[in-house]
Amino acid sequence: MSREIIRTKKFVADAANFIVGLAHKALAERNEFRIALSGGNTPRPVYSEIARIAHDLPWERILITFGDERCVPPDEARSNFRMASETLFVPAAIPEKSIIRMRGEIEPQIAAQEYQDHVDLLATQRGEAIYRHDLILLGLGDDGHTASLFPGTAAVQETLRRVVANFVPKLNTWRLTFTFPLINHARHGCFLVNASKQSELIERVLSGDTQYPAARVQCSEITWIIGQ
Ligand code: 6PG
Repeated sequence: MSREIIRTKKFVADAANFIVGLAHKALAERNEFRIALSGGNTPRPVYSEIARIAHDLPWERILITFGDERCVPPDEARSNFRMASETLFVPAAIPEKSIIRMRGEIEPQIAAQEYQDHVDLLATQRGEAIYRHDLILLGLGDDGHTASLFPGTAAVQETLRRVVANFVPKLNTWRLTFTFPLINHARHGCFLVNASKQSELIERVLSGDTQYPAARVQCSEITWIIGQ
């Protein structure tokens, strides 16, 4: 596993350029780019910037999944799909067939199984045992969670399933999330961490303190893009 740490005052521009650069690399090497989006607030301006600088990417050869989703309808303010749709999918006119949405509006266990079946089908179609993302975008929560792998929750311990429904007691809500078996199978993981994040938490995660789920991400290559 190799790791790169980029500390930058141009967080949005550097993050967008990094992602678009990996897209061009994957498309050149494999004629396909498989990216999983992260949710929350941090990626919002990055997705807008990608739509601005890379609206001409061959989106029909790009497969977009979600690392996690809130268990809400897609038009609800908390929906990661809605955030990505407003900032990237609509502005860049990305075709619907390139987007694989987690159905947060249905029963969580059913939604997780449905999404895992879809990801597993994509893997089988490509001769893979586990679907291999080219890039998984990841955020960092104030408690060290990433995707919806919150400290002390069942999903953190999952070693077989690729996608699960995860109850998060601190939020008193269900989430849908990738697990480490799927995340760690990606070619590249990229943490997007803006300047609002606590530097002490970042350093603890970077030091490998596995009390924080984010520290357990072990993709082949990991890049941290940290805003200053
Ligand atoms: C989510 C995200 C989650 C997020 C972190 C950081 O659905 O909320 O996937 O893992 O990346 O909570 O969120 P912010 O970027 O809003 O601080």
